[in-house]
Amino acid sequence: MPKDWYEWHDLYNTEPKLQQRLEIVREYIAYSLNASPNGAIRIVSVCAGDGRDLLGILKNHPRAKDVSARLVEINSNLVERGRATIESLGLASQIEFINGDATLAANYVGAVPADIVIVCGVFGNLADEAELNRLLDNLSFLSKQGAFIIWTRGHSNGITYSETVRKILRTSGFEEVNFKLTPTRDMGVGLHRYLGENLAVPKEQQLFVFSGIASKAR
Ligand SMILES: C[S@@+](CC[C@H](N)C(=O)[O-])C[C@H]1O[C@@H](n2cnc3c(N)ncnc32)[C@H](O)[C@@H]1O
Repeated sequence: MPKDWYEWHDLYNTEPKLQQRLEIVREYIAYSLNASPNGAIRIVSVCAGDGRDLLGILKNHPRAKDVSARLVEINSNLVERGRATIESLGLASQIEFINGDATLAANYVGAVPADIVIVCGVFGNLADEAELNRLLDNLSFLSKQGAFIIWTRGHSNGITYSETVRKILRTSGFEEVNFKLTPTRDMGVGLHRYLGENLAVPKEQQLFVFSGIASKAR
């Protein structure tokens, strides 16, 4: 069991579920970049980890030059690793890695509304469906109308939580573009579009509460 979120990232080296999830997330990021109209592309990543999903794609993607991104992550070791990758890719003028609380609207000011919002490894760390609804509602602050939302949700105890997420998204003003289960069949990865309007001012300063702990990550 990982003792913290830094150690949790080591599971990417050994767990097929996480490796497959990363592959699908990267595929969806590339799809979203390819589908974006000419010109600037704004991206935010909520609880970004070390940014390997986005940075792994920007490394080689022809639209990388159009991207400006803000990644928000609370673990300073992960941020340090992400910043080193950004430097090595020569993307420091375009990609900001904020060491801060991703649940606070203030940490996105100046970087939103975004064209692509990455919320991977987050939905399984919310207390309940009410909290998921709250976060989805608050995506109106982070997202442009039509923004791509990329998300993940693991299953546990035979419960297909990703189906619940899809159902809630369907009834909350999001259009499904793609959804895949990992070949391990216990992790869902979704790509949706936000159909609602952007809100220039957040409804709440606290967008959601992240209550998960690394040793029990779902
Ligand atoms: C399950 S991991 C997912 C990381 C990354 N998005 C990925 O998919 O690889 C959850 C991440 O959320 C971060 N986190 C937890 N609470 C946070 C908060 N309040 N603000 C920012 N990041 C937070 C953790 O440090 C951890 O890196």
